[in-house]
Amino acid sequence: TTCNFINHKSPIPKTPIAFAFDIDGVLLHSKTPIPKAIETLKYLKTNKIPFILLTNGGGYTEKIRLDSLNNLLSNTNIEIDQLVQSHTPMKYLTNKFNNVLVIGGIDPFTRDAAINYGFKKVLRPIDFVKENPNIWPFVKYSKEEIDKYSISFNINEPIDAIMVFNDPRDMGTDLQIILDLLCSKNGLIGTKRDYISNKPSIPIIFSNNDLLWSANYKIPRFGQGAFRIAIRELYKELNNGNELNDTVYGKPQIESYAFADKVLIDYWRKLNNLKSIGSELTFLQSYSNEYFDNVVMVGDNPKSDIAGGNNFGWETALVKTGVYKDGDFEIDRNLAKPTLGVFNDVYDAVMQSIEKVR
Ligand code: G3P
Ligand code: MG
Repeated sequence: TTCNFINHKSPIPKTPIAFAFDIDGVLLHSKTPIPKAIETLKYLKTNKIPFILLTNGGGYTEKIRLDSLNNLLSNTNIEIDQLVQSHTPMKYLTNKFNNVLVIGGIDPFTRDAAINYGFKKVLRPIDFVKENPNIWPFVKYSKEEIDKYSISFNINEPIDAIMVFNDPRDMGTDLQIILDLLCSKNGLIGTKRDYISNKPSIPIIFSNNDLLWSANYKIPRFGQGAFRIAIRELYKELNNGNELNDTVYGKPQIESYAFADKVLIDYWRKLNNLKSIGSELTFLQSYSNEYFDNVVMVGDNPKSDIAGGNNFGWETALVKTGVYKDGDFEIDRNLAKPTLGVFNDVYDAVMQSIEKVR
């Protein structure tokens, strides 16, 4: 489909404000709603103020994650075209890779997410364990899990790419298989290339780079960014100090914000009975300023939500219910600062942002 995106002027009068919400640390702590998050979303729905969810979380099809979110957030009736997960933009990679190894999350949900995007052959670490349990001597998968969730595959068929959709559940197994493939002969498991390089034998794409995230524990937990550090350090050791040449999506990357920008526009066009004008990953600037006077990114992590929103040209509002804590700006003066300020929670962030941009 040709993308007529860049030739489209908005046929609807501009709207004062739209929001993009981070999920973990803003709306939820894992599966527990943060106080006033439900009230905030219901206020926006009642007042027809458009918003989307832009999360570095993932590991599920958008449909399954959406049903879970609507259940946890008391049926605020969030729609599928309001949800951008860490790997949602990676569906555009189906024209580059056929045979992919998808890392992280839980079976069968994460495999289904990649299949749902259209990748022709989706493998998981559990399949490599089934093929040869000695691939990692301390495998954590049970026989029942292997029997239930693994598929057979031809080990003589090379893997085209590794995509990390979410945090690993068996980090030992995942690290071993990933480093085997990054240093393999052209993506063939069980082989080893006879040279060192900063270029891996097959590409690896991470869906976020969060060192920390706000879960259901007193202090933030390691995220996919911590896993990436482990992979990069091991790769460097195996390649005489050569740094791994890898790719990262997710916040704060511009690709994820550009994709979310189009999701927001398309959602607003749908609410105004206008057809979708399609979205691609290629036009990396913001077009939402044709539809909204202000788009406000509300997040809890200065390194992802605020840095990414600022860089993309959105307004940003930082909340204290997640990773960020008072005093962090004094500890790290390079942390990205929110354009609209720091707020106690998502309710204050929304109400005061509306006031500020009115
Ligand atoms: O795995 C989720 C975590 O990295 C952060 O998610 O919703 O705060 O972007 P979120
Ligand atoms: Mg967060």
